[in-house]
Amino acid sequence: MERPIGIFDSGIGGLTVANAIRKKLPKESILYFGDTAHLPYGDKSPESIRHYAARITAFLIQKKCKAIVIACNTASSHAYQTVVDIAGPDIPVINVIDPVVAKVVERHSGEKVGVIATKGTVESRVYQKRIKKKDQSIKVAAVATPLLAPMIEEGFFNNQISQTIINSYLSKPSLKELQALVLGCTHYPLIKREVKSYYTHKIDILDSPSIVASEVFEVLSWKHLLAEKDNPTYEFMVSDKTESFERSTKFFFKQKIALEEVRLFDL
Ligand code: DGL
Repeated sequence: MERPIGIFDSGIGGLTVANAIRKKLPKESILYFGDTAHLPYGDKSPESIRHYAARITAFLIQKKCKAIVIACNTASSHAYQTVVDIAGPDIPVINVIDPVVAKVVERHSGEKVGVIATKGTVESRVYQKRIKKKDQSIKVAAVATPLLAPMIEEGFFNNQISQTIINSYLSKPSLKELQALVLGCTHYPLIKREVKSYYTHKIDILDSPSIVASEVFEVLSWKHLLAEKDNPTYEFMVSDKTESFERSTKFFFKQKIALEEVRLFDL
């Protein structure tokens, strides 16, 4: 068996990224870990997130993953360096922020860009710092939208209630006159249509799945780590399994998948 790509998130939102990787790289095996026991990461301290990410990374390495994708903006904000340090020089680590920042810089020099994300991601100011480092001329306005991830996970999207909540966040004064909006949470691709409809399709809406899948392809080809055989395996593990999480997987992965519980934090 070829070594899998390890992908992790606080829960099942990162399955949007896993699904894009599966489509872009159909030969690759995937081992997904959702830390549902500690969800949501958006409200946790940076120290706790680094602790969880370190344990998950050690597990993915033990499972022989050849690369690690941090499919969570909050964990990418606080724990990227922790994961890189544990992974070492032979296992590339891809986060969901840098590839999106690169796209913003490529397309929006001199413009105003909004970011919606969890409290943790917004408080870290990671998007402002990384965009400004590459291009001072881009104005960045970030707004925390903590109701959105739980709302989506409960299946509330593409309906009147979700549109009302989304509109109320997007109408905040700091998000006026944007040329682009970054959906800075891996749950948000599911509300992309509603966000577009708020802006009546006039601004660039960037989300991570396809951008990150392309980055994974680039990194694996550059490191000569692409799978050669056409027999991928898919495994989906969570730290706390419930029927409700399993049901919701179909929103994020476009099909219902079986989750296996691994009590990583009891060991
Ligand atoms: N999927 C996580 C992210 O991209 C958000 C959900 C959470 O708060 O755990 O930040």
